[in-house]
Amino acid sequence: MDKLVITGGARLSGEVSISGAKNAALPILCASLLSSEPLTLTNVPCLNDIGTMLKLLAQMGVKVERDGENVSLDASGLNNPEAPYELVKTMRASILVLGPLLARCGEARVSLPGGCAIGARPVDQHIKGLLAMGAEVAVEHGYITAKAPRLRGARLFTDMVTVTGTENLMMAACLADGETVIENAAREPEVVDLAQCLVSMGAQISGAGTDLIRIRGVDRLHGASHRIMPDRIETGTFLCAAAATSGDIRLNGTSTGYLDAVVDKLMDAGCELIGEKTPRHESIRIMAPARLKAVSIRTAPYPAFPTDMQAQFMAINCVADGTAVIRETIFENRFMHAVELQRLGADIKIDGNTAFVTGVERLQGATVMATDLRASASLVIAGLVAEGETHIERIYHLDRGYEQIERKMGALGAKIRREKA
Ligand code: UD1
Repeated sequence: MDKLVITGGARLSGEVSISGAKNAALPILCASLLSSEPLTLTNVPCLNDIGTMLKLLAQMGVKVERDGENVSLDASGLNNPEAPYELVKTMRASILVLGPLLARCGEARVSLPGGCAIGARPVDQHIKGLLAMGAEVAVEHGYITAKAPRLRGARLFTDMVTVTGTENLMMAACLADGETVIENAAREPEVVDLAQCLVSMGAQISGAGTDLIRIRGVDRLHGASHRIMPDRIETGTFLCAAAATSGDIRLNGTSTGYLDAVVDKLMDAGCELIGEKTPRHESIRIMAPARLKAVSIRTAPYPAFPTDMQAQFMAINCVADGTAVIRETIFENRFMHAVELQRLGADIKIDGNTAFVTGVERLQGATVMATDLRASASLVIAGLVAEGETHIERIYHLDRGYEQIERKMGALGAKIRREKA
């Protein structure tokens, strides 16, 4: 299994391009299931999770062609509406096939995703929504089996804000009979990107980006082309890496527009951020001070501070001046990186869903283990500022969500290499 070896101390400078968003690409790939005409996508990131989703779709009979960041999907031969445990267990987002399969084929059999390192993560809200739309749903032998000759439009209310839940139900509703209203919908930019792709396929959707989405079902969707939005979490991760190392970097192909909560906190920490827009592309430049000020955060659904940036902010607070209070309200067990950061000399105390992080002058390199995707990113950031070498094991998590992180960080001057363990 590969590991990353980082020699800390380099100040990041220069520029890199940000890839397309994993969390927008995954549902949009599944949207291809809704039509018998081809969906052509650009700016699709080259990530293991994307590979897993394409494998899953291919197994269902979707013809997949991939050339770097361009992917074309043709679901005219869709013949096997089933997502087996072997693929679903490696990537929870596989549940996103459930809504589109049911809407297009009238049936679907999708493995239950089960728990994962950051918590139980049930899918009861996805199922509740489909039941309200008239589906017959059974959960047996670890599989969700759903049937509905044609889904009916309905008024749906989710008990909590769920991103993939909103996306699954929005896709299902596109081919339902009549109007569906999703209340308490997720407002994440990735939901909006999916809605834009669906609209270009002929769907009738309004309100995406607010907490009330209306979908008027149509008989069929047609082919379309769509460019995936930039990855705001990759953007935020690189901003944190620059912030921690007193860096000065420019990120191309992305914007501050999706990142207000993160940008505000980096400015509170003492960084200067400038968004630039040319006819060719958008970019962000960050200039970080010699030492950051501690910044407290509380995670919550968009537009509040994203849980997917919590670990990276814990890392920067480890070397900031002062004490930060970090409250995680989305997932019940998302502080696993804290014990690994402590191995690097961080001063962190955990009390339930709250972490108290007091900055130290210097972290020390050590061997640490990546426990989930964003936790791994926090260890990379900590390794960049730790004295000596940090060895990060189990980096397959990073490869699920960050495209060539060692090449991109290396281009900014980080001393980072991949080794076969
Ligand atoms: C998505 C993102 C993930 C991000 C998360 C929160 C993708 C592919 N993944 O995950 O990176 O961390 O949003 O921003 O887009 N819940 C239930 N029942 C449900 C659904 C959710 O109890 O049926 C709970 C979850 O356990 C969690 C909370 O609701 O506590 C929010 O989860 P959700 O928004 O659904 O996360 P994902 O969509 O899985």
